[in-house]
Amino acid sequence: MTRHPIPSIAAAIALTFPAAAAAETVYLTAGRMLDPESGRITEDAALLVEDGKIVRAGSASAITAPDGARTVKLGDKTILPGLIDMHTHLTGDPTKGGGYSILGYPSERFVIWAVNNAEKTLMAGFTTVRNTGADGYETLAVRDAINEGEIPGPRMFVAGPPVGIVGGHCSDNNYLPPEAAATGEGVATGPWEMRAKVRQNIKYGVDFIKTCSTGGVFSKGTLLGAPQGTPEELAAIVDEAHMRGLKVAVHAHGTIGIKNAIRAGADTIEHASYLDDEAIRLAKRNGVYLSMDIYNTEYTLSEGEKNGVLEESLEKERKVGGVQRESFRKAVKAGAKVVFGTDAAIYPHGDNANQFSRMVEFGMSPLQAIRAATSLAAEVLGKTGELGCVSAGCAADLIAVSGDPLSDVSVLEEVDFVMKEGVIYKAD
Ligand code: ARG
Repeated sequence: MTRHPIPSIAAAIALTFPAAAAAETVYLTAGRMLDPESGRITEDAALLVEDGKIVRAGSASAITAPDGARTVKLGDKTILPGLIDMHTHLTGDPTKGGGYSILGYPSERFVIWAVNNAEKTLMAGFTTVRNTGADGYETLAVRDAINEGEIPGPRMFVAGPPVGIVGGHCSDNNYLPPEAAATGEGVATGPWEMRAKVRQNIKYGVDFIKTCSTGGVFSKGTLLGAPQGTPEELAAIVDEAHMRGLKVAVHAHGTIGIKNAIRAGADTIEHASYLDDEAIRLAKRNGVYLSMDIYNTEYTLSEGEKNGVLEESLEKERKVGGVQRESFRKAVKAGAKVVFGTDAAIYPHGDNANQFSRMVEFGMSPLQAIRAATSLAAEVLGKTGELGCVSAGCAADLIAVSGDPLSDVSVLEEVDFVMKEGVIYKAD
């Protein structure tokens, strides 16, 4: 895979002085600023950034540059909050091979990919991601290295090993014959073992818990429609996580599994492909957010075969892609809370923003799609007023694009400027 030349240079600049740059006062001006929370556009905008936070935001006529501030003029570009992707796997890379080929790599290689993918994600304007599951605990180290300024990347909220049943979509894989006795880190049977896995993940420092209540496209021998985990097991996972202050993201394609997860107390449903009216009603009533990855189907169907994805998975994808998009339309129309989650890893990292135009095609307004990746996502993370916003007190996570994202949301696919916590990682 070729590395993006600009990010590397920009990142090198940022990495030379992360601490100094973070402490620096920056005065930014731009033609327009979009506040997704209110939907308001400010023309001739200015922002003042100090210690990694926005201290003032508004009209340039009202906010002037203090002495000693570094001035960054973004011309006629539009400033928005840094984007949030609620479903990524930075250790995964579709171009490294699908199906059996992935089994040939040691876990160290996954960490190296994660470091590269973190940089690509940040340079694409995603300043925060959830890493919604990995084989081991390596993504926690990636998160911490980013936080301590050792490598460039988005702020990460990390699940660690997903908790799941024997032979299920979460943690286990069914690729190898019995004599290999291969089993995943988070595989458990029964409520108590499930609780123990949750406790272990919390012990090692995860930010949230991931589990699965149905089969998946990319797991061998699992069915999208077949539930995984009993209601007791799912409830135990959720109870244990909630008791310790962590949220639970549940992978679920099939209708029964989606409802099982919601009834067990899930906070987000990942994929949510086969939604019926009752599932949507339940999600709304219980305040559950749907994270629906409606872009990646296009990548899998065009590149999957070449990448070595199993025919079984391609067949499942052919069936689910269109259904999921219609479910998305229904959920949006019904007023369910749909957040931006892409499952980056199924398609190459850095292309995350490709999903915006599909979200608009399938029923959202551009503002709704942008909210899904900013203020609404921040709500799920418990970071309202800190992330996904552009007012005083918010983290100085800012991006700028050419054009008007409210009339053509696809302009977010080309991000010209990226700041995270007051540090500039990408600029023209
Ligand atoms: N990780 C998911 C799975 O294996 C990806 C599903 C991708 N397809 C889709 N239409 N969203 O099930």
